[in-house]
Amino acid sequence: MKVQGYLEDEVDKMDNRPIGIMDSGLGGLSVVRVVQRELPNESIVFVGDEGHFPYGTKSQSVVRQLVLKIGQFLQSQPVKLMIIACNTATAAALPTVQQQLTIPVIGVINPGAKAAIDSDVQRIGVIATESTTKDGAYVRELQKLNPSVKVISKATQPLVAIVEHGKTGTPEAQETVNEQLTIFDEQPVDALILGCTHFPFLTNEIKQKMGPNVKLIDPALETVNQAKKLLTKNQLLSDQPASYQLYSTGDRKDLISGADKWLAGHYDSCNSLQLEGDN
Ligand code: DGL
Repeated sequence: MKVQGYLEDEVDKMDNRPIGIMDSGLGGLSVVRVVQRELPNESIVFVGDEGHFPYGTKSQSVVRQLVLKIGQFLQSQPVKLMIIACNTATAAALPTVQQQLTIPVIGVINPGAKAAIDSDVQRIGVIATESTTKDGAYVRELQKLNPSVKVISKATQPLVAIVEHGKTGTPEAQETVNEQLTIFDEQPVDALILGCTHFPFLTNEIKQKMGPNVKLIDPALETVNQAKKLLTKNQLLSDQPASYQLYSTGDRKDLISGADKWLAGHYDSCNSLQLEGDN
């Protein structure tokens, strides 16, 4: 019933468009699984850019163009929000994609840094791709939030391929983690940011190496918190049952086996996607 128009204005609006999420590969599923848990009514369109994997060894300008093309695809679906669920892509492209798209766009680096600072520790380790480490995005963000923290950053690019090619839980995975994280034997930390979305899938191996006293920070939870706040504030939450569409720009095989494992098969479809300019 409409009474002088004002009651109608107070009714909460809903928006059933999906959330768009992207990564260079299946690492972004570590963010998808948190959205599924924390925002169960939200549908998702996920793009894994397996056709251009890995991002961590590419130049930032190449990554920026790829992320922009994926953003344009997601916007055309249409999605109501884009989450760049890739640290390398966030460091290279977040401001550009925010400027070029008309939908809101959030990344994972500010949430990851905030989660580490909120854990109230003094010595923070960051493991990430070569590109993210070289860019220094985490160090900048952490020191902006708390200039007194000590940050030890290490590029651990070989861990990305271990996850992307389904080798977690193997002796090779543990050996690679042990070898890549030796820096923290000499320079101990209180918390370690998993600054690449592939790394939460190596949590067991990383815990084994770092020991029980080091807090592992997965930026996904704080990223999804920020997404939830944004959707709530702008009355964009969905009230319909969710559906999950996955796309791969490369061979769908890795994404399908990743989604079977890490989402426990909780998705509706996995299709191929060709980005503009690819053939
Ligand atoms: N998963 C990505 C990240 O969060 C990048 C991995 C890669 O493609 O090198 O940085």
